Amino acid sequence: MSAANQFDRAANQFDLEAAGFAPSLGDSAVNELRTSALALEEAIASGPILPKITPDEIRRHLAARFDFSRPLALEEVIADVERMMRTWHVQVTHPRYFGLFNPSVTLASLVADLLVAMYNPQLATWSTSPAANEMERHTLAWFTAKFGLPAETAATFTSGGAEANLSATIVALTKTFPEYGECGLRGLPASPTIYLTAETHNSFNKIAHIVGLGRNAIRAVATGGDRSSA
Ligand SMILES: Cc1ncc(COP(=O)(O)O)c(C=O)c1O
Repeated sequence: MSAANQFDRAANQFDLEAAGFAPSLGDSAVNELRTSALALEEAIASGPILPKITPDEIRRHLAARFDFSRPLALEEVIADVERMMRTWHVQVTHPRYFGLFNPSVTLASLVADLLVAMYNPQLATWSTSPAANEMERHTLAWFTAKFGLPAETAATFTSGGAEANLSATIVALTKTFPEYGECGLRGLPASPTIYLTAETHNSFNKIAHIVGLGRNAIRAVATGGDRSSA
């Protein structure tokens, strides 16, 4: 059996060892992570949500501890960073934190971050990261179908809301004015305007600047207090 066939057969069974890919992250590491994460989750849940700290206090600590003149032991740095995160941080994973829509911690997200850090998939080209590219395509195809979009829809994950809003603005400009891509706003016969509700996230101020429209192109449309009659 060729090495490639051997790998296919083993990978299909998620048996990396048989494919000659040992060691892998493996069950014991994941279980260890689960135990540490549960302990940390409990510790965070029993502590305060809001920190009491000033920028000067943090800056003094950083300047005293990290002057970059000598190497520090990794364990020392980890302990210090974790202490700072535990005490000088809004604990958004705390069960009584209702500030924003931050998701709570899951084992899957911890392991995913670890796998990304260890394998560092480079998605710029298909050939550098075939597995990650296809996982992204596969997941996005499922999402676009859920949204009722056509099968040929091009989709991409964004880093967050601001990048999503920026992508939407560029797509809207390019769809309405196909020449926008080549000539920019100078090539357009009109001055586009963005209509947003007064409740819109203010990332659009930055986006209007970035895409060349300028913030004066934004029109805020008032919304009623009673959404049912709006
Ligand atoms: C609707 C909306 N747009 C944009 C953003 C900005 O997102 P990010 O900071 O992830 O880029 C947020 C963040 O809360 C948001 O709620």
